Amino acid sequence: MIRVLFIGDVCGKPGRRAVRDLLPEIKAKEKIDVVITNIENSAHGRGATVETVNELMYYGVDFMTAGNHIWRRPDFHDLLSGDFPIIRGLNYPDDLPGKGFGEIDLGKKGKLLVITVIGYGFMNERTISEPFRRMEQLMKQINPDDYAGILTEMHAESTSEKVSFGLYFDGKVSAVLGTHTHIPTADERLLPSHSAYITDVGMVGPLDSSLWVKKEIVFQQNMYPYSPRYEIEEEGPVRFDAVVIEIDGPTSAKSIKRINKTL
Ligand SMILES: [Fe+2]
Ligand SMILES: [Fe+2]
Repeated sequence: MIRVLFIGDVCGKPGRRAVRDLLPEIKAKEKIDVVITNIENSAHGRGATVETVNELMYYGVDFMTAGNHIWRRPDFHDLLSGDFPIIRGLNYPDDLPGKGFGEIDLGKKGKLLVITVIGYGFMNERTISEPFRRMEQLMKQINPDDYAGILTEMHAESTSEKVSFGLYFDGKVSAVLGTHTHIPTADERLLPSHSAYITDVGMVGPLDSSLWVKKEIVFQQNMYPYSPRYEIEEEGPVRFDAVVIEIDGPTSAKSIKRINKTL
């Protein structure tokens, strides 16, 4: 059995501080074997830097995934070079830096395969390929029995695309976890063929914001054809959203549980 803590998109300094403050206690209480988080917003909301990634690893994060915002800072070259335990979306073109899947060696417990797929709907990512077929192609290249678990992150805007993806790969992977909207959903469950599923894990970032952006800026963005540059909300309460998954095989899980806290 592998107990995974998967943390939603960590946003800027408020998000990194919340990880620092909460991770030791959650790891001990939940007997966590491995901590995974999405780092696409870890540097002031926009992309990630070597510095922010090193900081999160220092706090106890073992492995990281990246969504559509990873390309926003030139550090992606270093972060996806293979020197860091970070993956990018599988369905980006093969000639881009990085890989869409990675292994975590858990010693006696075996290897955990982590895959990130970017959704198609409303994402404005013109270079990605259709996620279902791209994922199937990868599944044909691997032998599930080589792994103690297979965790898939579906980084997408559309709830219907995420639930469809979960049901399609139910019984083929241990878990399908949605990210990207930064809003946690309450639909965590084991699907009929025992894969764990949630439409969106949520985020770690400023609660009274949109995504992580200061509300005054978002108001202007909604009301005027011009708006100031996005700034992160650094004041006020911070939300911490994650899930704990008990993985009992490469194509199944035993449980999935939400952790949603406000600091
Ligand atoms: Fe994000
Ligand atoms: Fe995203």
